[in-house]
Amino acid sequence: MSESLSLAARAAYILRDNSTGLITKASPTLYPHQWSWDAAFNAIGLATVDLPRARLELDALFAGQWRNGMVPHIVFDPAADGYWPGPAQWQCARFNEDAPAAPATSGIIDPPVHAIAVDRILAVAAAKGGREDELTLGWAAHLYPKLLAWHRFLARDRTDKSTGLITLFHGWESGTDNSPRWDIPYGNVLVGPDLPAYTRRDKAHVSSVGQRPTDREYDRYLWLVEEAKEAGYDAGLLRESGSFQVGDVLFTAIYAAASDLLASFAARLRKPDDAAELKDYAAQARAAVFCHVDEASGLAADVDLRTGSWLRTETVAGFAPLIAGGMPRYLRQRLVTLLTGPRWAGHPALKWPLPPSTSPCSPAFNPECYWRGPVWPVFTWLLTWALHRSGEHALAARLRETSLEQLGDETYAEYYHPMTGAPLGSLNQSWTAAAALDWLLDREAA
Ligand code: SER
Repeated sequence: MSESLSLAARAAYILRDNSTGLITKASPTLYPHQWSWDAAFNAIGLATVDLPRARLELDALFAGQWRNGMVPHIVFDPAADGYWPGPAQWQCARFNEDAPAAPATSGIIDPPVHAIAVDRILAVAAAKGGREDELTLGWAAHLYPKLLAWHRFLARDRTDKSTGLITLFHGWESGTDNSPRWDIPYGNVLVGPDLPAYTRRDKAHVSSVGQRPTDREYDRYLWLVEEAKEAGYDAGLLRESGSFQVGDVLFTAIYAAASDLLASFAARLRKPDDAAELKDYAAQARAAVFCHVDEASGLAADVDLRTGSWLRTETVAGFAPLIAGGMPRYLRQRLVTLLTGPRWAGHPALKWPLPPSTSPCSPAFNPECYWRGPVWPVFTWLLTWALHRSGEHALAARLRETSLEQLGDETYAEYYHPMTGAPLGSLNQSWTAAAALDWLLDREAA
């Protein structure tokens, strides 16, 4: 069997093994439910092997959408156990009347990559043609109002008026939980004495606890869940009371790119007013990201909205302008040079020339720990997608090929040690398998 075929087969088996039939678990044991942005990436991978299953993945996720348009970051599988905090901690339907009674969900959000997934699934179906193309187009038209409601929710409830950035009330919402991006704002979160006692379950699923966030960080994560509950998961109230409030450049960049794609789809559905509205969201989000580029480093900086301070850290989220798209060529060149240079993918100590989650030159760099240093293949996928979209095809292909080499150990880890190449976190992580499948399809098309 050729190397590509073996990689693809193993990746497809992982997605099948992690499927409950309705949802794809983010990973077999560490994350046994459906996570919002994982589901979108998983659907992209599924589309390469099974279009109906890809469509079902997003349908299942949007079954958990709240009446106010919010897509929660977890849709819980009632049959699964082992993840904490679960539905009993979130109690969303009790605290917010917009939350569905079933399926049970969390009360916070994940980055809005869903319209990017739908665009990619449509492209895979179009290349296939025939009945699957027709069915997929009909499916996307049916999903469209839900995507629109999600993007409207983010514009209405989560866009910060002063910076134009999307506001997050929990680091989990960024998807980059313990990234050094959030060290300062988390430093100002004071955990109250009434934090309910808890036992972490995540640490049992990794080969070393140093790969996961610390207990001190977890206290804060759980405290913020209590705060959100207290505020009835209401963004207006959280803006008054939330002790963690940040403007996230990466989330905002993803929102810009996804709004652009959704605007194009709205135009295709002959909905010109929606298309104009979505284009407007995209333009405003993109402008907000570009306004937060730090001149000295060239990287975009998040904002601590409680103090107004820029959070200048050297994390991969700083490449947000590349993901937002629409950068003037000379600015894009500067970021591409930085991405491939010695502070990032070109750092001489790296096993593979791939961007780590935090620069090895940063004092916060920790090569083993979650978002503080390891290479995340799914993030590399997002970069390759964005580079293609900006016309940087050669670099996108190079990162794709290097990533496929990295995945040659067939562990499909959640993240990898940037210096040794050791697999870290969960193995058989669904979105890593999904990224591999899409890269292999892209390679075939090239
Ligand atoms: N990423 C979080 C976790 O580690 C939840 O979103 O459980």
